[in-house]
Amino acid sequence: MSQSDHVRIFDTTLRDGEQSPGATMTSSEKLEVAKTLSRLGVDVIEAGFAAASPDDLKAVQGIAASVGVLAIEGRPVAEPPRICSLARAAKGDIDKAWEAVSPAQHPRIHTFLATSPIHREHKLRMSKAEVLERITEMVGYARTLCADIEFSPEDAGRTEMDFLYEAIQAAIEAGATTINIPDTVGYTTPDEFGRRIALIRENVVGVERAIISVHCHNDLGLAVANSLAAVQNGARQVEVAVNGIGERAGNASLEEVVMALKVRNDHFKLNTSVDSTQLTRISRLVSKVTGMSVQPNKAIVGANAFAHEAGIHQDGMLKNQETYEIMRPETVGASQSLLVLGKHSGRAAFANRLAELGYPLIGAELHKAFTRFKDVADKKKHITDADLLALVSDELYQPEELYRLDALQVTCGTGMPTATVRLQCPDGELRTVSTVGTGPVDAVYMAIQQVVNLPVTLLEYSVQSVTRGIDALGEVNVRVRWDDEPVESDESRINPQSGGSRARVYHGHGAHTDVIVASAKAYLASLNRLLSVQQNRTARDADADTQASA
Ligand code: KIV
Ligand code: ZN
Repeated sequence: MSQSDHVRIFDTTLRDGEQSPGATMTSSEKLEVAKTLSRLGVDVIEAGFAAASPDDLKAVQGIAASVGVLAIEGRPVAEPPRICSLARAAKGDIDKAWEAVSPAQHPRIHTFLATSPIHREHKLRMSKAEVLERITEMVGYARTLCADIEFSPEDAGRTEMDFLYEAIQAAIEAGATTINIPDTVGYTTPDEFGRRIALIRENVVGVERAIISVHCHNDLGLAVANSLAAVQNGARQVEVAVNGIGERAGNASLEEVVMALKVRNDHFKLNTSVDSTQLTRISRLVSKVTGMSVQPNKAIVGANAFAHEAGIHQDGMLKNQETYEIMRPETVGASQSLLVLGKHSGRAAFANRLAELGYPLIGAELHKAFTRFKDVADKKKHITDADLLALVSDELYQPEELYRLDALQVTCGTGMPTATVRLQCPDGELRTVSTVGTGPVDAVYMAIQQVVNLPVTLLEYSVQSVTRGIDALGEVNVRVRWDDEPVESDESRINPQSGGSRARVYHGHGAHTDVIVASAKAYLASLNRLLSVQQNRTARDADADTQASA
């Protein structure tokens, strides 16, 4: 295959990204992320790991049927992204992956098997010959179902080169069209990893029949550097996640890889099909739905990525922006617009600005967001783009409101911080509880707990202001662990990489001009998320029981 100058962007936010502790997304959040990824222009969306659970299968299937097709919500799409599901090298997994991705215009099955000595001996307990045989058999089987097959020799970064060549050759001979080289544990350095790719291209018989892809983890902070070294040595697909989320220290960050290739096109001479002006938007969306905030100094999408503080820098910027800026904020969709709307702005102006920001809301969603906007505009004079985005995500990207905050009153100071909370319960009843806590947030959380009554541990609580100024919106993120989480009897929460079960952590976020209200909303959102997941599971188990007894 001749080397093209196009680098495919394979996004794994919904699969590897979702493996980050607490990043669990609901099916509708996954769908929203997938739609936004499609607008961003990624080539492949790894929508999940279908065999993980019936819910995961359904979520991948939903994305395949509505994002991987020629028209999304009535809007024609010239080239829909490939929709992919991960599958272990086992028939059952591959069948489920195929069931999930087959509605897509361009379906892909991504199957993997570990090849490194440590994984072969301790995890798989398989000899080299057995590993090769399994690769041939399972890639071959997957190819009978789907024309687009990706194979990953897991932990390729620590696999003996000679054996890696054999494994790759076996996969290509069995029909793999993409060979992905994962640095599963983020161990390699850029020169070593780049050399691995070059050696694979020199030594594997038939390598020209497949695209070489890379999937780098960030344990040593080298994921992006390793990915770029790989493309310089001939890789033409890079696996990335928005905001760099993923297992442990995460994956190579989509926005960093894309912008490095774009800004330093003079150096790499390679292109992607990503519309970089959508990067800030997708970063915010993923941060909201996963509850993982972006560090302010994060490259490309951090709040300070385009802020100039030092006087000497500001002076330079005023004279010529290029003195301290290698890319303009608008190239990545980081709007500098400060004053956008106020309390006299009408619905049309509001809808128009949201559409410009990438949220073309209509009907009930627009009504909900506009009501909320008016409420905030009464308290806050200038509503900025950052405020609007916080409001929209607070209204729209929330789990189903099984419990809803109806009213909240807090007294605090040096005496006895007391909270009175009124919640609307799932049966429609309003319940009011008052409690004393160590502080106002503690008192509110105890009051909510008295109504919802779920044994959870609060693992993380953070509050940030969305913009500057005393009237700024406060945004709160929390993570809770359910202490009574039932142990699942099937393999539903098995981490495909480690083979072990993972503890569930549930996040929630809330935004409000009053940080105590934002705190209450965030906590309730995490409990509502937990309850929705639990309800889905119960429905699924009931389904399985009915089928078993039929
Ligand atoms: O890190 C890894 O090895 C993976 C594979 C399943 C591609 O995520
Ligand atoms: Zn991975």
